[in-house]
Amino acid sequence: MITKPTIDRIMEATDIVEVIGEFVQLKKRGANYVGLSPFVNERTPSFTVSPAKGIFKDFSSGKGGSAVTFLMELEKFTYPEALKWLAKKYGIEVEETVDTTENLEEQNHRESLMIVSGYAAKFFHESLLDTDEGKSIGYSYFKERGFSNDTIKKFELGYSPDQWEAFTGEAIKQGYQEQYLVESGLSVKRDNGALYDRYRGRVMFPIHSFTGRVIAFGGRTLKTDKNVPKYVNSPESEIYHKSSVLYGLYFAKRSIREEDNCYLVEGYADVISVHQAGIENVVASSGTSLTSEQIRLIGRLTKNITILYDGDAAGIKASLRGLDMILEEGLNVKVVLFPDGHDPDSYVQKFGTNAFKTHIEQNKKDFILYKTDILLKEAGNDPIKKSEVIREIVESIAKIPDSIKASVFIQECSRILKIEERSLNTELNKMRQAKAKKDHQQQQNHKPEPSPEDLLFFDEPEEKAAVKESDTQEKEIIRLLLLYGNKMIDWDGIANTYIGPFMIAELSDVEFEQPVTKHFMEIYRQEVENGVLPEEQHFIHHRDKGIVDLVVTLLTTKYVLSENWYEMHKILVSDEQANMKATILGAIFHLKKQKVGKILQKLRDELQTTTGETDQEILLNQYMHMKKVEKTISDYLGSVIIK
Ligand code: CTP
Ligand code: MN
Repeated sequence: MITKPTIDRIMEATDIVEVIGEFVQLKKRGANYVGLSPFVNERTPSFTVSPAKGIFKDFSSGKGGSAVTFLMELEKFTYPEALKWLAKKYGIEVEETVDTTENLEEQNHRESLMIVSGYAAKFFHESLLDTDEGKSIGYSYFKERGFSNDTIKKFELGYSPDQWEAFTGEAIKQGYQEQYLVESGLSVKRDNGALYDRYRGRVMFPIHSFTGRVIAFGGRTLKTDKNVPKYVNSPESEIYHKSSVLYGLYFAKRSIREEDNCYLVEGYADVISVHQAGIENVVASSGTSLTSEQIRLIGRLTKNITILYDGDAAGIKASLRGLDMILEEGLNVKVVLFPDGHDPDSYVQKFGTNAFKTHIEQNKKDFILYKTDILLKEAGNDPIKKSEVIREIVESIAKIPDSIKASVFIQECSRILKIEERSLNTELNKMRQAKAKKDHQQQQNHKPEPSPEDLLFFDEPEEKAAVKESDTQEKEIIRLLLLYGNKMIDWDGIANTYIGPFMIAELSDVEFEQPVTKHFMEIYRQEVENGVLPEEQHFIHHRDKGIVDLVVTLLTTKYVLSENWYEMHKILVSDEQANMKATILGAIFHLKKQKVGKILQKLRDELQTTTGETDQEILLNQYMHMKKVEKTISDYLGSVIIK
């Protein structure tokens, strides 16, 4: 368990805009920041961060919370893991109470896989640097390829000894469980149940998650034997989904944002050499064709992708269609080819950084124009083939969401294809209409994304209508506790009281029905009993996600989220505060009245099914009593609440 003082220190140091800014491009809007949701694919920003409150709210997916919750949602971190990530970022030393058995139990499946992967990276790295075999085979190979010691350290490159059980044996000795060794793919199970190393005699490239944890490996053979696969990669696992990982992204993300461009290459060696040359905004799709998830990962950091291809033309044509996907995501794509026989790695190693940069500047071509060139060359003078080319190009252009950008391409392609702009536009419009029709059909089932203006006034009207009355009233109590619990009120013109403890005392006889509201009330009561008035931050940073969700939802309703809203609705909000007494008592007694109503209903039901005379009398007495309570409450509400 991480100690409370450590948690407090982490929370104090954490700047939520800075943390979320590592993953999402944020723009300032009023007191808040907005950006595109990292949880769903959207074009209109609905993701809002409030630095003042230290919370985010994603109106598309409904997720919300603190910087900690954000990391838990996005990186699937556990609570302690998210805290440790922040501690590392802000240079805070983590104090933990030692209870290893409890800690081990707490660590879930994913965490165990990450831990064993992290251990393996360390093992391979040390074997590269500290063992004779590693030094003479692995390390000298990397040196030959021009990787510096700093690079080897930064990318945690390693070597897996050429033995059957060097790694597996040591891992088992260190107490790592077979289950995780096998699931992570580090060890392979024989039919007889024995384990052996997957990556024998290979140099190792650890693959890092977006936040820098090792989640998989690529192992390259040093043999030239054609029968030995060049790379052996980790299998898919709970922590490694190949289609949503880009090699090098962790080391590149800062630079991608700064340069507002991402270089996309094919291999591990390309990423490392280009990075080492001082061009750090580079990632690799690791040999597979690019997926839309990978594009979205990049799209959160920049809208510009430059693809660096090696010279061999075979792969180029095959990839053309896949690249349309990038256009669809609204990104700008440029393509650079390297001379035959060179890939970005070999080019930058041979000619150096400046020549590399110059080559890119002189050869980068917009994807659509590049595609046009290639297809045209192929079609030659065949008119049928040429009309196919036109269709295909217009199809690509139709995928560009920005219509101004699209029309610029129409102009240029008209020139290259020697076709009138007008005919291209006719074709484009046809495709657009077909697409719009298709989108419309799909959208029937989806709610439209709210516009940014709507967001600030967001108050979940549909959800509200759907929830039960009791739910709403219980939540109203919690909203008031959050907003005013630590404020004083001049209750009777004589003495000031804190609203929180007053409400808690008044509600001591009321049982909350929703598990999460009940839990909230217990926490609040506990804190009050400890002599503390819990602030909203206490709940925003609570380790129970349900509590964080509840609180953030309540804090981001129209009453709170936007200062703009206060201005526009000055009267309403100040009314609530001026009539504080009515508001607080109203909420308490409405809830009580509702609970009494439920008890009365229950008694009526019992009365109908009970036959014994004494039982009936007891029930009747209870009923009369509750009726009186109900009347008292109603009278009270009538006298207090100014409607
Ligand atoms: N790759 C793979 N499995 C293979 C071949 C390639 O996973 N059998 C992936 C690797 O991620 C590799 C990338 O595809 O980095 C590009 O392949 P290639 O160009 O063959 O490898 P390089 O990285 O260029 O390796 P090297 O320069 O060491 O030959
Ligand atoms: Mn290569």
